[in-house]
Amino acid sequence: MKIAIGNDHAAVELKQEIKAYLEELGHEVVDLGVNTTESCNYPEYGAAVGRAVVNKEVDCGVLICGTGVGISIAANKVKGVRAAVCSEPVTARLVKEHNNANIIAFGARIVGSEMAKAIVDAYLGAEFLGGRHQTRVDLIHAIEE
Ligand code: RB5
Repeated sequence: MKIAIGNDHAAVELKQEIKAYLEELGHEVVDLGVNTTESCNYPEYGAAVGRAVVNKEVDCGVLICGTGVGISIAANKVKGVRAAVCSEPVTARLVKEHNNANIIAFGARIVGSEMAKAIVDAYLGAEFLGGRHQTRVDLIHAIEE
């Protein structure tokens, strides 16, 4: 898979670890920054990953900030994005199965690196179930119109 990854200054170390992990798994990772712990603004990176996903430059996205919340809120402002914050693998599986999340987010101040890897594994290993869930996803995007 081709996966975009983005983060703010709170998540540089975890981003680098997750990027390396995804590459070890054989994925191509497009790193949209940042790679410095100098204070920055997470909406820029949430938007960049969101645009890469909806423009089909990548298959999906991973976003990390302090909590995962701010950067996912920003990504969700890009039409077509379904970014979901997860702190454990059950939610990570369900956001793919039920919500067809195209971006997964988590917080570097909330989860450790092993939990982050388990979240990524659960998300990437899941399939969207369609059916009634597709109806609901369509209703979500109707709100954008
Ligand atoms: C940065 O201090 C912090 O606000 C950010 O990483 C994130 O947690 C926002 O939601």
